[in-house]
Amino acid sequence: MTDAPPRRFSIVLLAAIADNGVIGRDNGLPFRQRSDLQRFKSLTMGKPVLMGRKTYLSIGKPLPGRTNIVVSRDAGFAPAGVVIARSLDAALAAARDDADKRGAGEIVVIGGTDIFAQTMPLADRMEITHVHASPAGDTYFPPIDATQWRAATRSDHPPGPQDEAAFSYVTYERV
Ligand SMILES: NC(=O)c1ccc[n+]([C@@H]2O[C@H](COP(=O)([O-])OP(=O)(O)OC[C@H]3O[C@@H](n4cnc5c(N)ncnc54)[C@H](OP(=O)(O)O)[C@@H]3O)[C@@H](O)[C@H]2O)c1
Repeated sequence: MTDAPPRRFSIVLLAAIADNGVIGRDNGLPFRQRSDLQRFKSLTMGKPVLMGRKTYLSIGKPLPGRTNIVVSRDAGFAPAGVVIARSLDAALAAARDDADKRGAGEIVVIGGTDIFAQTMPLADRMEITHVHASPAGDTYFPPIDATQWRAATRSDHPPGPQDEAAFSYVTYERV
């Protein structure tokens, strides 16, 4: 009897990026986009979510209904209710185990810049909300290389009632 082939999981980057590339300010979001928070929830619920320590602190608590995997090299950082990983490899291994247990087909990387930069070379897909504003900020999404990524689908939206700006949902796939 042969072993079953290793299970394949997609690694998906999920981010909201302003037109000037900004994704964060003062360890928080640089724009108020209520509709994007709803989209974030629907794209992550029931899946392992992988994030850096600073993003976890900006959220302030574990996201319910998801396995929160937080990377930090700080041995003293051990909040309750999350899986702590001391390296990206350890985080991906924990996320794969969790996706397997949950029957989830993907691992969702939710930031911030540091983690996006390290995982973009491994990613299969990126679900990006382009927010059509240019806020001040101190953290940026890594450049999306057009020789590596193509916009597979795009939809444009006016601001919702609690959004600061118009936005576009773009799914990027490997070229
Ligand atoms: N607009 C969006 O979609 C979006 C999404 C997420 C976050 N954000 C924003 O992005 C900002 C935070 O991003 P950031 O880049 O400053 O921080 P981050 O990526 O959230 O966290 C960085 C931290 O992760 C840990 N880390 C990184 N690589 C590691 C590795 N290979 N092994 C172990 N630990 C590792 C380190 O923690 P230690 O220092 O503890 O070792 C590092 O300081 C905030 O403003 C947040 O609001 C925006």
